Order: sequence, then C-alpha cells, then structure tokens
Amino acid sequence: MIDHRRLRVALLGAGSVGSQVAHLLLTQAAELAERSGADLELAGIAVRDVDAPRDVDLPRELLTTDAEGLIVGSDIVIELMGGIEPARAHILTALNSGADVVTGNKALLATHGAEIFDAADQVGASVSYEAAVAGAIPIVRPLKDSLAGDRVVRIMGIVNGTTNYILDRMDKEGADFADVLAQAQALGYAEADPTADVEAYDAAQKAAILASLAFHTSVPLEAVHREGITSIDKAMIDGARAAGYVIKLLAVCERLPADGDQGEDGEEISVRVYPALVGRDHPLASVHGANNAVFVEAEAAGALMFYGAGAGGIQTASAVLGDVVSAARRHIAGGVGVGESPRMSVPVAPIGRITTRYQITLEVDDEPGVLAHVASILSEGGISVATVEQTVEQPAEEAAAEQAPAPRRARLVIGTHHAREQALGDTVARLSSSDVVERVVSVLRVEGE
Ligand code: NDP
Ligand code: HSE
Repeated sequence: MIDHRRLRVALLGAGSVGSQVAHLLLTQAAELAERSGADLELAGIAVRDVDAPRDVDLPRELLTTDAEGLIVGSDIVIELMGGIEPARAHILTALNSGADVVTGNKALLATHGAEIFDAADQVGASVSYEAAVAGAIPIVRPLKDSLAGDRVVRIMGIVNGTTNYILDRMDKEGADFADVLAQAQALGYAEADPTADVEAYDAAQKAAILASLAFHTSVPLEAVHREGITSIDKAMIDGARAAGYVIKLLAVCERLPADGDQGEDGEEISVRVYPALVGRDHPLASVHGANNAVFVEAEAAGALMFYGAGAGGIQTASAVLGDVVSAARRHIAGGVGVGESPRMSVPVAPIGRITTRYQITLEVDDEPGVLAHVASILSEGGISVATVEQTVEQPAEEAAAEQAPAPRRARLVIGTHHAREQALGDTVARLSSSDVVERVVSVLRVEGE
C-alpha cells in the first residue's frame, strides 16, 4: 500500500462539466491516486445555488457558495464556472495562494490569458487548460509541448460542438435551427448564453488560443475575424448540398505567405472563424454531431488530424481530469510549473488580406447580356471564374396570371478560383449595385481544397 500525499482539490462550478468532474473525482479516487501519486481530496464545490438540480447526485455537504473560502489552502483549484468574473478573481486568488489551476474557460483565457499566465509565472504555479479548446480532444498539449520543436504553418478545424451539431442536423434532416439549438442546450453542449456558440464568439476565443499556442504569439481576441451561423438558412444548406459541399463553421489560423504587403518583420498571421463550404469528400465533412476536428500542418511533421468529442459534460471532464493528474504530479515533484512559451507579437492581418476560393450566388434578370455583364464585373475586379451554374426560377402562379408578367429571374452560382478577400468584397459590392443583379443571395468561402 503506497502512502500517498494528500492534495486538497477545490472545484468551482458543478454544471454540465463540473458535476461530471466531481463525480469522477469521487468515484475513481483510487485510480486517480495511483496515476497522480497523490490522494485527491475533493474539499468542496462552489456553486451559485446549493439546492439547484444537478446532472449527477453530489454529496450535499460538499456544496458551498463560499468560493474564496474554499480556494484558500487548496493545492489544486479547478475552475468550471465559466464567464469572466468572478472566475478571473478566483483564479488569481488561487495562484497567489500557491495552488495550481485547471480551467476550461476559453472566454477568460482569450481575454485575460496574459494576466493569468503572468500571475502563475510569478509564483511558479501552473495553469492547465486542455478543456478550453475542442472539449475532450487533446490539442492544447500537442501544440504546447509535442510540436514545440516544429514550425506550425496552418490550423484548420471545427472547434465548436454546438454549431456543428446544429449545421449537421440541418444538413441531414432539414431540422429547424431553433429546435436543434434547444436540443444542443439540453445535451449540455452550449454555453450558458448560446449566442456565444451561434455567433461564433466561442470559436473565436478558441481560435485565439490555438493561434497563440501554434505561432508562439499573443493573439488578441479583437483581432480574430468572426462570423457566426445565424445567417445560414435551409436554402443555403440545400444549395451547398446540390453543389457537392457541406457548410461547416471553421476556425482557420495560418501564417500568410510573404508577398511584400507584410509588416516590418515580414511575418503575418490570419486568425478567422466563419461558416464555409467544405467538399463532401473532405474529412471535415464527416465530422458529425457535436464532434470537433482540428487539422494541424507543421513544416516537419506534415499534416496531423485531431478528432473527437468537442463538447459535452462527461467528455470534457476527461480533459479536465488529465490536467488535474498533471497538476498533482507537479505538486508532488515540486519545482516551478511549466509556463507558456515566451510570446512574440506577430501581427494579425485584416480579413481583406486572406486568399481563398468563393461561391457567389446571385439572383439576376433572365435576359440576354446579363451573364456577360456579370462576367465583366468579375473580370474587372480581377476575380477568376472557375464554375458557373444557372437555374431559371419559375414565376409564381399569381404573378404569371397577371397581365404584365413579372420578369423571369435566374439564379447564378459562381465558383471562383483563389482570390484576395479585399478584391472579392469590392467586386461583390459592384455586383450588388449593378442594374442586372436583383440580389446577392450569398457569398461563402470554400475551404479545404
Ligand atoms: P454550466 O453553466 O453548466 O455550469 C456553471 C457552473 O458554475 C454551475 O454549477 C454554476 O452554479 C456555477 N457558477 C456560475 N457562476 C457562479 C458564481 N458566480 N459563483 C458560484 N458558482 C457559479 O457550465 P459548463 O459546465 O457547461 O461549462 C463550464 C466551463 O467549461 C465554461 O468555461 C465552458 O466554456 C467550459 N467548457 C464547457 C464545455 C461543455 O461542453 N459544456 C466543453 C468545454 C469547455 P449553479 O449550478 O448553482 O448555477
Ligand atoms: N459550447 C462549446 C461548444 C463547449 O459547443 O463547443 C465546448 O467548448
């Protein structure tokens, strides 16, 4: 029988993730002690309301509303409350009192990461956050440690489970956006305020964390280009399917190729999150439900893919517990916690500087010369056309019955070759104000080709 050291663990939050973490700490105590070399004593669980219903039964005597009182004297503090305050204040209290911190709070790390990492460095404590990006998938540690000797050039992935669940169900079953969002909430995938998911704030926070780790820089959240999925409707999903694509909310972090437009030191990155078209034969197209997948391209390692559950209480608890075991081992071994890599300040390029392919859908009058006019606007904008498809829309019956029939409309779906976003945007603005274009129905980027 090994005489383990006893470590006091404070848990802040017993929601979707926290309740599962508490359950595992209590029911798998012996195994966790074997792996970490310490008895992990769950000293208490801070919540807002000790009487609130929980996903799992937790001993009533462990629940408290006094988070600060619980933190003091703890060796490891697990923060799973979410949000900025009081999570930030509690983490700083924990670090300043010598505790190691484990958190899944990407909103906090993407906005106050520098302050928290500095506070940890000052006292030689560790801050671990595997659960903050892509739920159960190990991606933080691979970027921070395993790939530290390589040069990452690009990351592209699906990093939000809720939106992938919504888009997947809309694609597969024609499900209604609001209905599926409610189901994602009930399953514990969504943030406390699901706007964070559907407007891609959550994915943008994760992209900022991923890019900071991958490029050893500090990416401010405001520099991440963000577009959510609330504008994606059934017609866009059906149109994508008909053209051989699926719509996915993607996070893309990449080093931009040097082309003379860069800043002083010649290095620039792009960090962006938006719904994009992905070919149905691309591996990202088969990421279903609340799963996530992250592709990493590094100079020496080549292409790596990380795949698995991107959200969910029990799944995310796995990542949290992994960090807890590491923190316990460090606590036992002593010495200072392994901090973040020294961070540079690589400029983040505005969205106008990226280059990708696009699909532009226009509603136009079905008349001679219209296609030529559209083609000339594209050509003047330097946009090279790869594919064009036209469908003629049948006038509504009541319109057809009128004396002066409504003009026939056609829908043009134009696929472009690679183009600079700035040039594309300027050209779409010209198309939009042109006499022959009734309406710009949608403009979607095409990624992964
Ligand atoms: P929930 O909203 O389900 O739970 C939050 C918990 O924190 C609740 O128990 C709540 O108490 C408690 N809490 C909130 N504010 C306070 C406060 N001011 N004082 C005391 N307790 C408080 O969140 P999740 O479990 O879903 O997420 C937790 C964290 O993990 C977030 O940062 C989230 O982004 C992250 N995460 C979540 C994933 C998921 O799939 N859900 C996946 C990966 C990361 P009470 O119960 O009494 O209301
Ligand atoms: N709300 C987040 C998601 C939880 O849906 O991905 C995991 O970070």
